[in-house]
Amino acid sequence: MGAKYSYLPPFLLNSYMSIIKVENLVKKFGNLTAVNDISFEVEEGTIFGFLGPNGAGKTTTINILCTLLAPTSGRASIFGFDCTKQSSEVRKAIGIVFQDMTLDKDLTAYENLVFHAYLYDVKKSEREPRIKDALNFVDLYDRRNDLVKKFSGGMKRRLEVARGLIHRPKVLFLDEPTLGLDPQTRANLWDFIVDLPRKHKVTIFMTTHYMEEAEVCSKIAIIDNGKIIIVGTPDELKKTIGGDVIYIKTSDNKRAKLEIEKLFQVNVFEQDSELFLTSLKGDACIPEIIRALGDSVLSVRLQRPTLNDVFLKMTGKEIRVEEVSSGDTIKEEVRSYRRKFDRG
Ligand SMILES: Nc1ncnc2c1ncn2[C@@H]1O[C@H](COP(=O)(O)OP(=O)(O)OP(=O)(O)O)[C@@H](O)[C@H]1O
Ligand SMILES: [Mg+2]
Repeated sequence: MGAKYSYLPPFLLNSYMSIIKVENLVKKFGNLTAVNDISFEVEEGTIFGFLGPNGAGKTTTINILCTLLAPTSGRASIFGFDCTKQSSEVRKAIGIVFQDMTLDKDLTAYENLVFHAYLYDVKKSEREPRIKDALNFVDLYDRRNDLVKKFSGGMKRRLEVARGLIHRPKVLFLDEPTLGLDPQTRANLWDFIVDLPRKHKVTIFMTTHYMEEAEVCSKIAIIDNGKIIIVGTPDELKKTIGGDVIYIKTSDNKRAKLEIEKLFQVNVFEQDSELFLTSLKGDACIPEIIRALGDSVLSVRLQRPTLNDVFLKMTGKEIRVEEVSSGDTIKEEVRSYRRKFDRG
């Protein structure tokens, strides 16, 4: 940064570069290291996707960034404000949609948003227009006077996104925003999320178990066992696969695996009774494989690498959505986080 900017306050200097900065962050719960020395940055106005299997440390990282948990060591800052030492400035700059639902089901949609506007000291003159804007944005204005307990899962999630926007945060954290929703509702909510950076000038930090959602993120970090394994754009990540992916089903996978490994000197993996390997020249390899394995080949297919392949290669695991708990239960832990957060 040149000398002519030296009079700018730190948060403005940082806004030219990264809005979120995480350096060597560690969080231990007793003997368990939930977050293990992670570092990354998120640029303003982008969608940053945090991918990882259950228990990888995603929510723990979000809770530290949102000032709800103190790190064991390392630093995190948002908009130039330190998440530990300047927590009230950080809280003003962020909005959160928690992994578990935290709306008050016995209030109407409108009352939930008014309550939030009070908590965040939104000026009285601005309260009504902001609530109207947010409700319109998520297509719930006509349902504003309905009790939340009468809402579907997708409507509740949309209302939570609207609530997260009322105080005009710079960064919106979305922890599994579409989890447990049916595919159509998920796609519908996703349409709102991808529009957020442009329409609300907000940076998105989100976790997801859905690879098609990760595809549209500006950048993705894959985290496993508390460690970030790789960070990059979806295309950069896919390039790490190093070629096409060949999937083969045979009547004797054990023998076929050994044969192919010997033939091409590569690792062959097995998943759901199917063998797979990566190859720079997928088309050329297939005839050789068929020649070597003969009649035992039941099917062969060639696929360009997907983020799922990257995830599998990096973590040795597939993201399985069904293992994740439903997003519609209010756990006491989340309630207490929410109370802590709202107290400011
Ligand atoms: N308050 C806590 N006390 C003790 N251990 C915790 C606490 N919170 C999280 N953990 C542990 O830290 C690890 C990371 O948990 P975290 O909730 O961050 O995972 P996650 O990546 O969000 O997983 P999921 O995809 O299931 O939401 C897990 O082993 C979890 O059991
Ligand atoms: Mg989580």
